[in-house]
Amino acid sequence: MSNTAQITVDGNTYDLPLTEGSEQEKAIDIGAFRAQSGVITLDRGFKNTGSCESGITFLDGEKGILRYRGYPIEQLADDSTFLEVAHLLIYGELPGKDVLTNFESDISRHTLVNEDIKKILDGFPSNAHPMGVLSSLITAQTAFYPLSLEPNRSQEENDLSIIRLIAKMPTFAAWAFKKKMGHPVVYPSNKLNYCGNFLQMMFALPSEDYEVDPIVEKALDKLLILHADHEQNCSTSTVRIVGSSQASLWASISAGVNALWGPLHGGANQAVIEMLENIKADGGDTKKWMGKAKDKDDPFRLMGFGHRVYKNFDPRAKIIKKAADDVLDALGVVDPILDVAKGLEEEALSDQYFVDRKLYPNVDFYSGIIYRALGIPTEMFTVMFALGRLPGWIAQWKEMREKGEPIGRPRQVYTGANERDYVSLSKR
Ligand code: ACO
Repeated sequence: MSNTAQITVDGNTYDLPLTEGSEQEKAIDIGAFRAQSGVITLDRGFKNTGSCESGITFLDGEKGILRYRGYPIEQLADDSTFLEVAHLLIYGELPGKDVLTNFESDISRHTLVNEDIKKILDGFPSNAHPMGVLSSLITAQTAFYPLSLEPNRSQEENDLSIIRLIAKMPTFAAWAFKKKMGHPVVYPSNKLNYCGNFLQMMFALPSEDYEVDPIVEKALDKLLILHADHEQNCSTSTVRIVGSSQASLWASISAGVNALWGPLHGGANQAVIEMLENIKADGGDTKKWMGKAKDKDDPFRLMGFGHRVYKNFDPRAKIIKKAADDVLDALGVVDPILDVAKGLEEEALSDQYFVDRKLYPNVDFYSGIIYRALGIPTEMFTVMFALGRLPGWIAQWKEMREKGEPIGRPRQVYTGANERDYVSLSKR
């Protein structure tokens, strides 16, 4: 392959270097192009723009491949644990037994949060969305760990922030839920593993002993693995771009939580369940809703369908669909919404509109059904996504900082008014 690409602008041809990834994806490096030609590239929504070179996650949207550090998602979802995957993503290799044990024990020793966090929590109205509470509590940690604001910290100091963040995230998430419920918070238990601890902080009642259901714990762990990273999506790119200003890990991750919140990204899992409930309440006529989704004058979209990069199938959706059946069976839960979802999927997969646009169920289409079966309320679904995505965000932040990437600063094509003279208020 030639290692340059040519672009001709106004009769002048410029040679631009081509770069190739380890899976042979090719890219034209346009970094110096403006300096040579005075021209920028325009790519609304970054549909065809690589913002970095990354060794963390590989995905091929045409073939439905997703790998973390080279390991297929299917194998990790079957055999690994969330904390093992977190270590893999952040540090690049599968941990040995001792390393993993130390990592898990470090995390379990940092799950407690400063008591003053409860005062911050008290300041929120009870109807606050848990995603807003979560991102606020994460940013608030900068006040408790002011040294984390220092950009040039040692690897060891950054590692401590990473451990604290992974450890405290379930506490923040569960406490955001408790706030919503108006219930007293439950403190973390270091005797339990990561998911078990989260479940007891969510569901334990002061008057009763709480036993973690192993089926629920395992299902949750699998869901977190499936969400753990997804290369340069909206929230991850946000984390990298915020971190590129040398903002702290806490500030960068909090920004990622906010980016994830929207219904076109992580908020889709909540939107899917609300949509399925609406369809059911409306009599379950899936054809009518399919019609709405296809009608360009109707803003309704089939939530949980379509993906910016997967144009064949989303490998996570395949695993989750099976897991939804397994979990509901194992827990003896009958959820009529699962039938609505399956009906919609079947229709969409054979509908020309969806076939032509390569729209398939994405990770969010069935995840909400599992969360519901596990007893997790709808408003917490995107928080669950954030909990899962955390190691990926951390890995991406760490990689970006270790590579010393420049501050993220896109350009624009200005389309506003040309220069004009200011007219004072009295003359307008
Ligand atoms: N329902 C109906 N039509 C759709 C849908 C949908 N869910 N998704 C895309 N389309 C249509 C668009 O209207 C467009 O049609 P057109 O070519 O006739 O104009 C075409 O398919 C392409 O859609 P775009 O919005 O241009 O695709 P893009 O890659 O920008 O968006 C996205 C991808 C945001 C995921 C989109 O498919 C969508 O809105 N899906 C529903 C929300 C959702 O499930 N989000 C979660 C994504 S997964 C995640 O973030 C974890």
